[in-house]
Amino acid sequence: MEYLVMLPGPTNVPNRVMNAMLAPVINHRSDDFRILYRDIIEKTQKVFETNGDIILLTTSGTGAVESSVVNLIKKGDKVIIPVNGEFSTRLADLIDSWGGTAIRIDAPYGENPPIGKIEEAFEVNKDVKALYAVYNETSTGTTIRYMDKLGNLCGKYGSFFIADAVSILGGDELPVDKWNIDICITASQKALAAPPGVSPISINERTKKYMQSNPSPILYLNLNRYFRYYKEHTETPFTPALPLYYAFNEALNLVLEEGIEKRIQRHKQCADAFYSSLSAMGLTPFAKEDAKSNVIIAFNYLEGMDDKKFRTLLSDDFRVLIAGGFGNLKGKVFRIGSMGEVSRYHVMRTVSAIYSAMKMLGVNTNDKALSVAEEKLKNL
Ligand SMILES: Cc1ncc(COP(=O)(O)O)c(C=O)c1O
Repeated sequence: MEYLVMLPGPTNVPNRVMNAMLAPVINHRSDDFRILYRDIIEKTQKVFETNGDIILLTTSGTGAVESSVVNLIKKGDKVIIPVNGEFSTRLADLIDSWGGTAIRIDAPYGENPPIGKIEEAFEVNKDVKALYAVYNETSTGTTIRYMDKLGNLCGKYGSFFIADAVSILGGDELPVDKWNIDICITASQKALAAPPGVSPISINERTKKYMQSNPSPILYLNLNRYFRYYKEHTETPFTPALPLYYAFNEALNLVLEEGIEKRIQRHKQCADAFYSSLSAMGLTPFAKEDAKSNVIIAFNYLEGMDDKKFRTLLSDDFRVLIAGGFGNLKGKVFRIGSMGEVSRYHVMRTVSAIYSAMKMLGVNTNDKALSVAEEKLKNL
């Protein structure tokens, strides 16, 4: 029996999307490809709510995050970055190792720094080149709820604003142009419900111009090459992973058929059902109330819930895959990816499997949790 993939990525991929990969290989230097590529770019712009350029890297999310750093950041550049988990830590370290100076605004895991601290950093450090923000910190299930205000701050202080939206785009609000985001990065295998391997990035006009007049020495992830190949040929500079393009195209069709607003609402409703029902079981969410993610649901383990035993029961007995904690949180929290296709079926099956696994481990719980979830999902 197939697994229900409730991981923080990759997530369940609809059959329509998987089947799209069976289309035949075509020449990536042909009109057939150009039509496909232009179509994907235009749909991606709609999903990102941007008029900016879209570059479609066939890498995982890290490749796209890295490409933003190596094309934008120069030696000695100051970069402000809120740090509250594994992915923001990794990004800050990458900025430093590339020669930039990461100005880390730390917050306890599960929380976001107060926005005042970020403004203070702009005041204290003159000439800040960029603000990087991991919109959804996947390692802790924490979402920054003031991204629009960060966009305003960047406007005020003349910095670039870059969003790592790898684990959230397609599952929560993200109007890229409206929020003043200069570079927005995501990946196919999370809330867009496509297979892993495609990572789209949006780049607005002023950032593109900056990159064109300050070229990066690198080759494969050189975004200037992508701009040029798209403008001159409507092609990618290097061989694209075609089957993944087909799948990503179909995933975008599904997003646009559903409509972005409706999709976000569905994610909110499923997150609400998870938070309410798991809390009714006696568990507590890891993230603070104002930072709780609608796509990654992280809960603290109770006494008697051994991470390995619990998740083995879920996967072997109930065929439900969820993730454990990252780094210091290993063994302390579990994380559910509530994204992409997620609907009543996914939530009910996951919640009831968790309830049963807790009982099997002899942990005190409450079966009312199931009717709490049912109630929250009534009209879905
Ligand atoms: C916020 C965030 N950034 C970056 C990445 C790296 O993405 P990938 O594993 O696709 O390289 C992830 C992966 O989970 C992520 O959640």
